[in-house]
Amino acid sequence: MTKSILFVCLGNICRSPTAEAIFRGQAQGRGLEIDSAGTSGWHDGNPSDPRASAEAARRGIDMSYIRSRKVVPADFERFDLIVAMDAQNVRDLQAIQPAASRAQLVKLLDYTPEIGLSDVPDPYYEDNFPEVLDMIELACGNLLASL
Ligand code: 4NP
Repeated sequence: MTKSILFVCLGNICRSPTAEAIFRGQAQGRGLEIDSAGTSGWHDGNPSDPRASAEAARRGIDMSYIRSRKVVPADFERFDLIVAMDAQNVRDLQAIQPAASRAQLVKLLDYTPEIGLSDVPDPYYEDNFPEVLDMIELACGNLLASL
């Protein structure tokens, strides 16, 4: 049974903390452990990108409590499911995945075959936060329904 879920992107300031906050709201009362992390560690200890938290706040979602952290090999023992935002995240995660790891590694858009995209675009560069949040809300809802 899936009880703990970690969302992962590159910086852990745009896509994965947004997924963490959205999913936490959707999964309220389900008793799941939910967290997010980044493959890079570039923004360790920093709050999320203000463009992400502003778009989330417009939708009634609080991201102010989230601080960026780097993903660690122990996350593969702590979490049942690790949800990457794109194919590069998957490669970076596989590079640190312990041989006997128990976590299942998937991509968020595996849950939205209907939109025909396999990677969540990086809004840090593309500045398309509303579009990315729509995508993350849809995919997180489908992920929750799949559990
Ligand atoms: P994220 O976006 O992986 O969705 O958090 C990025 C955040 C920061 C950087 C790149 C992507 N950066 O180059 O600092």
